[in-house]
Amino acid sequence: MSDTIIGQPLPRADGVAKVTGGAVYALDTRRDGMLHAAMACAAVALGRLTALDTTAAEAAPGVRLVLTHRNHPILKPDKGLNDGGGSHATWRPLESDEIRFHGQAIALVVADTRIQAEHAASLIHARYAVQPAVAVLGTAGLAPEPTPRQEDLSSGDVARALREAAVKVEARYAIPTQHHNAIELFGCIAEWQGDRLVVQVPSQGVGPMAKGLATTFSIPQEAVRVQSAFVGGGFGGKGVLLANVIGVAAAARMIGRPVKLLLPREQSYANASFRPAADMAVKVAASADGRLMAMDYECQSQTSRFDKLGFAGGAVAVKLYACPNVAVRERIVPMDVNTPGFMRAPGEAPSMFAMESAIDELCVALRMDPVAFRRINDAPRDMLADKAWSSHSMLLCWERAAELFGWARRSAAPGSMTDRGELVGWGCASAAYPTLIASSAGSVTMAADGAVHVRSSAADLGTGTYTTLAQVAAERLGVAFGRVTVELGDTAFPPGNLAGGSTTALASSNAVKQAADDLVTAMKRAAVAPGGPLAGTEAAALRLESGALRGGARAVPLAEILRAAPDGRMEATAQWAHPEMPLPMRQMLWQGGSPVLPPRKASMSSLAWGANFVEVRINPRTRTIRVPRMIGVFAGGRILNARTARSQLMGGMVWAVGHALLERTETDARRAAITNANLSEYYVAVNADIGEVVVETVDEQDDFIGPIGAKGLGEIGITGVAPAIANAVFHATGVRVRKTPILIEDILPEG
Ligand code: MOS
Repeated sequence: MSDTIIGQPLPRADGVAKVTGGAVYALDTRRDGMLHAAMACAAVALGRLTALDTTAAEAAPGVRLVLTHRNHPILKPDKGLNDGGGSHATWRPLESDEIRFHGQAIALVVADTRIQAEHAASLIHARYAVQPAVAVLGTAGLAPEPTPRQEDLSSGDVARALREAAVKVEARYAIPTQHHNAIELFGCIAEWQGDRLVVQVPSQGVGPMAKGLATTFSIPQEAVRVQSAFVGGGFGGKGVLLANVIGVAAAARMIGRPVKLLLPREQSYANASFRPAADMAVKVAASADGRLMAMDYECQSQTSRFDKLGFAGGAVAVKLYACPNVAVRERIVPMDVNTPGFMRAPGEAPSMFAMESAIDELCVALRMDPVAFRRINDAPRDMLADKAWSSHSMLLCWERAAELFGWARRSAAPGSMTDRGELVGWGCASAAYPTLIASSAGSVTMAADGAVHVRSSAADLGTGTYTTLAQVAAERLGVAFGRVTVELGDTAFPPGNLAGGSTTALASSNAVKQAADDLVTAMKRAAVAPGGPLAGTEAAALRLESGALRGGARAVPLAEILRAAPDGRMEATAQWAHPEMPLPMRQMLWQGGSPVLPPRKASMSSLAWGANFVEVRINPRTRTIRVPRMIGVFAGGRILNARTARSQLMGGMVWAVGHALLERTETDARRAAITNANLSEYYVAVNADIGEVVVETVDEQDDFIGPIGAKGLGEIGITGVAPAIANAVFHATGVRVRKTPILIEDILPEG
């Protein structure tokens, strides 16, 4: 059996379809008789509707329905994704007259055309009884709370180590609220076929979304079909069922026709999910010779009043080094905003910005080179969980990245490097992301002509899943890559993992491998069965080789076995779950969940590793910051496809430049309202912001995480670059900026 297809830098299987318009995204779907919806949104942040005048909207041309709290059905509550449900916010605007955050939906208008729906929505007038609202982290009177189901972590005696250590750094770091700005907008198309609900919605996990819809509408899960073949940018924002989908499905049922909503970008800021603002207090301490003695991380992040949602990220940041005394406390601060949600490395991007900045400050205080610091503080095992690493390549990444970057040529003193009149800063930081071991299912079909078909409800967010799953099936079945077609993103297929937590490369590859291997086993059995071409041979003695099953001197082409099967094809469906995943959890997959082996139940600890080096150039007068080059070296287990892996990692690094220097959701504290809900005032990194990006991967063999051995690379790319940039800005200017985005005004010269 050929062992060379997995890992090859093959071009994307779906690439041509995507660039020629052949790929049908969820919101490109057209249904017969489809109507169009538009939302009217609240102009205040907290209170109650006292009047809602929909008369003009109802009389406007083309209008079929104006859905408000007066006629919206009262549906069943659903839980959030973290509680085993499928929903984003558990509170749904259109079902009551309450206003709980600025910009929430107060009406959904359905009309013959989108223009008519938007026009009618603009005619809706609301009056409110308003209460004072708070939407800005740090506002007096807000109270942090423990994050439900998330325990504080600690080992050793941090307080004592901090007292006794020779060198220490204590500082506060902050990141602002950030919003998803994928090219593909949010929205959905919902249609009822009798008692069955069919929804096209951009989705990272059609299974959990179907589960959420089934719960909400009190119908069996088999009666819900969710489809999302392609996703135009997910990043976590499309991992959960948003309230607008429920409103559209309710409207479609009331009218008896398919309804489509395309949420304008301005409305998606309030009505979709976001990365919560976070304030982080960090203490780190070392002995005089640079050995890390203590790491203390406390985070407060914003959440809504109705969902006490927080993202764990501190654990990763404190595990990277050999440190005997560590503590992590993560708190949430409920306020009058929508529920936050997943956004690429939800907890890790903030925690790594804070901790990797603090480590750099510690190196400065120690007068120690940051690379040398990593050499003497590399963690031999996961000291916090007291487990061995399943594979561990942090130092390899650091050494290779330092070499590629030319770090040895750095002059350490801040402000000491200049070129052509610009201040030059070199900075570095670790990157890391936990390897979550999800389970997944898929099917593999092979026809007598050698065509192979893979199906799973798992998603390709542009990450390369169509390509990598075809590689896995091709390799296992000994067929050419081009003979494999893959279908994804439909609850009609075997349940794949939710594409969250960078799980797909690991989970779905193992599922497809298992299905392909099961199919080979089935073909062997058919070959040796009485009357079969190899009757009398032991199935176990057969090998798959060059498209034939061989046993001793006898060989039979697969085509012959398949031709004899019903329909001239055979199929196998398989679920893969890690052997340490408890049995009841495995069943959750078939019930619309996306179970992940809880890291505390795993006998080993698994992370993806990386090191980032960046160069910044700063104009000494205008203080504009540029990033002409960055280097990332990552270890992610077995690399399934060097090309798609590089794209993923590069995408994360590019986004991190935006994180470090540009992105910030502006909230008017007085009105508790977002004021830059558009791409002209919410800045994201564009081509002109990005210079040279070098990405390399370090090969890793990891036998614990599953037979394919791939770790996810979806999120790690964003984790190390923002602190590396902050560290480089310090190196260039001597100014330590402890928040993002790092702006011109943060680094103005004194006086
Ligand atoms: Mo990722 S933020 O878990 O989609």
